[in-house]
Amino acid sequence: MRAIQINGCCQASELHVCEIPLPEIRNGWVLVRVYAAGMNHSEVLLRLFEADHDYIHKPVVPGIECVGEVADPSDSDMKIGDRVIALMGGMGRSFNGSYEEFVLLPRTHVFKVNTDLDWISLAAIPETYYTAYGSLTESLLLQKDDILLVRGATSTVGEAAIQLAKAMGAHVVAACRRESSFEELIQLGAEECVVDNERLCDYNFKKRPNKILELVGPKTLHDSMLTVSHPGYVCNTGILGNVFSVQNFDPIKYIPNGVFLSGFFSNSPTQQQIDQIFDLIDRHHIRPLYKQVFTLEQISMAHEVLERGAGGKIILQVVK
Ligand SMILES: NC(=O)c1ccc[n+]([C@@H]2O[C@H](COP(=O)([O-])OP(=O)(O)OC[C@H]3O[C@@H](n4cnc5c(N)ncnc54)[C@H](OP(=O)(O)O)[C@@H]3O)[C@@H](O)[C@H]2O)c1
Repeated sequence: MRAIQINGCCQASELHVCEIPLPEIRNGWVLVRVYAAGMNHSEVLLRLFEADHDYIHKPVVPGIECVGEVADPSDSDMKIGDRVIALMGGMGRSFNGSYEEFVLLPRTHVFKVNTDLDWISLAAIPETYYTAYGSLTESLLLQKDDILLVRGATSTVGEAAIQLAKAMGAHVVAACRRESSFEELIQLGAEECVVDNERLCDYNFKKRPNKILELVGPKTLHDSMLTVSHPGYVCNTGILGNVFSVQNFDPIKYIPNGVFLSGFFSNSPTQQQIDQIFDLIDRHHIRPLYKQVFTLEQISMAHEVLERGAGGKIILQVVK
């Protein structure tokens, strides 16, 4: 079968299609025929910095998410031809991921979906919409009529969060770097937009947020804690600001009284959460967002675009 494999750190231009044997089926694992795969910045980090480390299984087929059909269910409850999505759990790092025609995946990270979406639109969903939905529900406990501020709103996770939060009945405020993005964010469901000057605690919101999805990360996290109303919830999911941790973290001084701080890591999706996401997408006619589609043969170009920032989700089309 055709696949993209890496044996260590490399440049985008060194990626190419090769032929490798079909994976051998084993109990507890499911063989999936990959139709398409959403691409993620973490796959650039794997290629540039992580692939030389021992904790990466090598040679490895990258790719942390995919959509496709069950080709061999092994001993699982799944059936040949079931439409599925899969994400995370070590995919494309501890075991081969989605940049290949057939991928062997742990049953626990493969989820059935009942949807009429085409493969490319479906591929825009797994990691992006799960990260947004998990942050909103597990970490921010989002409720109807909550006032949610999304910081880093023009990122793909940010835009998905706006669509989902609006569908869940929240009032959404979007913070981004440029006023020229406002119109697009309003189209997606934001009711108020603000240019993020990294000091929103002084901003005169029409309605002060009681929940904040922090995608810029530790760079603006403390400002988010000072911005949210009390009681208020802040969830740090992203690191767009390229500051990866809070220095000298003193919880008593850092977290104001009545503010609840959480993080979110997209490693443990459940079938129930996936069903809830697809139910929202279906009932509210949410359009899965993506920017560009590349074929497996165009992998170098896809990674070059991913590395410099595509300004939206990139989809790798594995089966034409
Ligand atoms: N916790 C988890 O499990 C998890 C899972 C997935 C993703 N993430 C994280 O979530 C964040 C978003 O991921 P993504 O894939 O949606 O990113 P993305 O689509 O690659 O987002 C890139 C966009 O974000 C905006 N941006 C970049 N730097 C910014 C900054 N300093 N302040 C505000 N906006 C900025 C830019 O839009 P403009 O040019 O329009 O400003 C840029 O085009 C990332 O930090 C990612 O690592 C976390």
